[in-house]
Amino acid sequence: MKLKGKVTIVTGAGSGIGKASAGVFAEEGALVVVVDWNKEAGAQTAETIRQAGGEATYCYADVSNAQDAEAMVNTAVERYGRLDVLFNNAAIQIMAKLADTEEDVWDRIQRVNLKGVFLGCKYAIPAMIRNGGGSIINMASVLGFVGDPDLAAYCAAKGGVIALTKAGALGYGPQGVRINCICPGDVDTPLAQEYFQKDADPERLRQEISSKYALRRIAGPREVAQMAVFLASDASSFVTGSTMVIDGGLTVKCY
Ligand SMILES: NC(=O)c1ccc[n+]([C@@H]2O[C@H](COP(=O)([O-])OP(=O)(O)OC[C@H]3O[C@@H](n4cnc5c(N)ncnc54)[C@H](O)[C@@H]3O)[C@@H](O)[C@H]2O)c1
Repeated sequence: MKLKGKVTIVTGAGSGIGKASAGVFAEEGALVVVVDWNKEAGAQTAETIRQAGGEATYCYADVSNAQDAEAMVNTAVERYGRLDVLFNNAAIQIMAKLADTEEDVWDRIQRVNLKGVFLGCKYAIPAMIRNGGGSIINMASVLGFVGDPDLAAYCAAKGGVIALTKAGALGYGPQGVRINCICPGDVDTPLAQEYFQKDADPERLRQEISSKYALRRIAGPREVAQMAVFLASDASSFVTGSTMVIDGGLTVKCY
């Protein structure tokens, strides 16, 4: 029970890494506010946690909307009395090379993937300070520090998340708020599966991508969730401003 009694918000918890994280957080004793703009999926995650004996409440929010972001923090405080942990995990992925990226697509990606993280931090930090501190985990990606020609706007947003994490860690460390980010390589979720499905031969593409990893496979969502648990827990009490790479050895090689 690494997170016993910790009040935790997980955004994008209706699917993939967020869903797995909400489940693992609850298994570790956290009281979880499950946030997603997909009401059915978010409510289902909360229900699954409760059926397994954990504690969870679903809260609708579009993380790119300031009122929703503030309301999600208020929900945690009103329902459970305080806020200890925020996992800013929600994001969208739209493929396009730089010059082919429509302005609207650029704006949508920055709104959800970067502004959404900013808004989560903006409203969670004061609530955490009132409670003596807390831990924020921002979801970045290896694409925040290496490029993908077909995901230009996504790469830019994830790079922004890494920089925002460092600025925030410096700003609020003195008040006991730790802020770190996670940089996974490919993770086997609907988002990654959609990417594979765009290829004429999805299974071949999956094999090809897996072969680039030192571990010769992509991650499972629970493996990423375990990194989030570490950063949320007191086991990481001296870790802040860090960029935690969890990529099976993808980005350590040159050739
Ligand atoms: N899957 C990968 O290969 C991979 C790799 C690196 C980083 N990531 C990052 O991990 C995070 C989770 O990705 P995933 O693969 O689990 O994706 P996913 O698509 O399976 O799940 C994302 C969830 O976020 C929700 N969501 C999206 N926009 C939202 C918004 N504005 N407000 C509220 N909810 C919203 C969706 O409804 C969905 O339930 C993302 O930040 C993604 O960029 C994923």
